[in-house]
Amino acid sequence: MNILVTGGAGYIGSHTIVELVNAGHTAVVIDNLSNSSSESLRRVESITGVAVPFYKVDIRDREGLERVFDENSFDCCIHFAGLKAVGESVVKPWEYYENNIYGTLVLVDVMRKHGLKNIIFSSSATVYGDPAVIPITEDCPKGMCTNPYGWTKWMIEQILADLHAADVKNGCKDPWNAVLLRYFNPIGAHPSGLIGEDPSGIPNNLMPYITQVAVGKLEKLHVFGNDYDTHDGTGVRDYIHVVDLARGHVKALDAIEKKCGVGVYNLGTGVGYSVFDIVGAFEKANGVRIPYVIDPRRPGDVAVCYSDPRKAMSELGWKTEYGIFEMCRDSWNWQKNNPKGYGK
Ligand code: NAD
Ligand code: UFG
Repeated sequence: MNILVTGGAGYIGSHTIVELVNAGHTAVVIDNLSNSSSESLRRVESITGVAVPFYKVDIRDREGLERVFDENSFDCCIHFAGLKAVGESVVKPWEYYENNIYGTLVLVDVMRKHGLKNIIFSSSATVYGDPAVIPITEDCPKGMCTNPYGWTKWMIEQILADLHAADVKNGCKDPWNAVLLRYFNPIGAHPSGLIGEDPSGIPNNLMPYITQVAVGKLEKLHVFGNDYDTHDGTGVRDYIHVVDLARGHVKALDAIEKKCGVGVYNLGTGVGYSVFDIVGAFEKANGVRIPYVIDPRRPGDVAVCYSDPRKAMSELGWKTEYGIFEMCRDSWNWQKNNPKGYGK
């Protein structure tokens, strides 16, 4: 299949393109490079040996999108493009709604005008808010998001589901197919060490913070709270290797090909690790010490969040292959080989 990958120069997008090519698909990327560098795509090309056509286009730019569709024919869109910093979304909600929701509306409109009604969307465990049940199944209560970023994910899920429902109601012969993938906490990097996560400024997320401490860019890790009701008092999350996550998209394409309608899947491992577990695993895997201090809890954080991934396993035939050792090993391999990231 020929896949339009929005946000393909970013962390998860670049890893997904490698797996798409490995599975025999082709990809065309659009990205405005607001949080990435086209160097990631050059590296994807060197891993795969395949050229990846790239358009520096914003998903809000209707004319730019029209040009991409005029010059290509697509079977599906994998939609990664979006702003993703939870804290920033609280400070700049308008920018998040405009970029993520308006951008998706323009994208979807251009898609349907060109007869493309297949989409895989990057959603997030954040749609579950403070989860009512652990492990989290797809039908757990949702829609009580704790920040504007989370609302954009939840609203886009709703928009895509409504497009499908309206087509069905109207007796449309080729209704929208949408696979909504709710990612848990992607970490790690491609085992080649050529592509990985390259956050701008001081990282918000745990693993890039740890690797920047390990490489000497940051002095010590700040552990946000050690008084949660967890086995060691620190927050528990479902970390997933980005290559496993990327392969979930390839499996989702199979579902799209079978005209799945709307499919909603958690992509996680189903295993929860605390902050201290991750620090310990990182030190053990890499022989590097991570100094830390305990800080107060970060506002908005929940104590425990991990998935029940069995639906993706049984319906998509997907399973994770990498464990916490490989996640820590590959995160460090990427950071130590690229201390300045892509140099963007
Ligand atoms: P990323 O920032 O590395 O990638 C997103 C890409 O989208 C970037 O390359 C950015 O330049 C591009 N982009 C942003 N707005 C755009 C626009 N208007 N037009 C064109 N391109 C635009 O982030 P990522 O970690 O690879 O995340 C990919 C997707 O997965 C995002 O939608 C994110 O919300 C979602 N997600 C990420 C995580 C995570 O922890 N990384 C968890 C859950 C969901
Ligand atoms: N943490 C620290 N110190 C840090 C960073 C994080 O102690 O410097 C702790 C947090 O308190 C939390 C855990 O490490 O207990 C994980 O935090 P992250 O920021 O790495 O991840 P979150 O679970 O908060 O959020 C991430 C993404 C969201 C996404 C969510 C669920 O940032 O976009 O996973 O997919 F919605």
